[in-house]
Amino acid sequence: MKFLITAGPTREPIDPVRFISNRSSGKMGYAIAQAALAAGHEVILVSGPVYLAPPRRAQTIKVTTCDEMYDTVHSHLDGIDIAVMCAAVSDFKPANFTPRKIKKHAGLESLTLVPTRDILASLAKNKKKFLVVGFAAETNDLKKNALKKMREKKCDLIIGNDVSRMDTGMESDDNELTLFYNTGIIETIPRAKKTALAKKLVKIFEKLQEKS
Ligand code: CTP
Repeated sequence: MKFLITAGPTREPIDPVRFISNRSSGKMGYAIAQAALAAGHEVILVSGPVYLAPPRRAQTIKVTTCDEMYDTVHSHLDGIDIAVMCAAVSDFKPANFTPRKIKKHAGLESLTLVPTRDILASLAKNKKKFLVVGFAAETNDLKKNALKKMREKKCDLIIGNDVSRMDTGMESDDNELTLFYNTGIIETIPRAKKTALAKKLVKIFEKLQEKS
């Protein structure tokens, strides 16, 4: 199978030295890329800024902003079998980029933000020649929110994780996942290392591909 995976956060610049971002470490996306490669698959990894070594044998493309990630994903859809959108894309970006560093004495009373484009949702328009897998990072109402995302973003599978806890989810080496399939089936994978979870996920993706 040919995988297209997004991972890590995006950074939305305010000025040359400041940006809006989030706590994503990229560990889950990189672990899925690694597990897919180990199982003999081809991987294109579109990664936001992270402190991880690119997996050997993956085609890794480094991006910074949501717009760069969006364009890179859309120019690499040809021939893929599955898109796994694991990145924690910033939902907002500054309306204007200030090309010179904003000086402290000048003050900054407010920052106008505008929404970024939704990469995962944009894939639904590609007539589904490939499987679409999204993640749902939630602090509350995991099931309700994940199912809403699956419907609205027209995914084959949404993988929910609780990001309110410090021992799993963002930045952690561990995670606990709940899988929501578009068939209505719900499956929980108990807490484990992200590397172990990634191996299980790749097997699940292979089975989904067989059925599709
Ligand atoms: N996603 C994306 N592009 C965006 C925002 C999110 O591709 N601009 C993808 C993520 O990669 C993930 C899924 O959408 O697969 C859900 O992301 P999440 O941050 O959980 O939810 P949001 O859609 O951003 O909604 P909210 O912040 O309200 O929970």
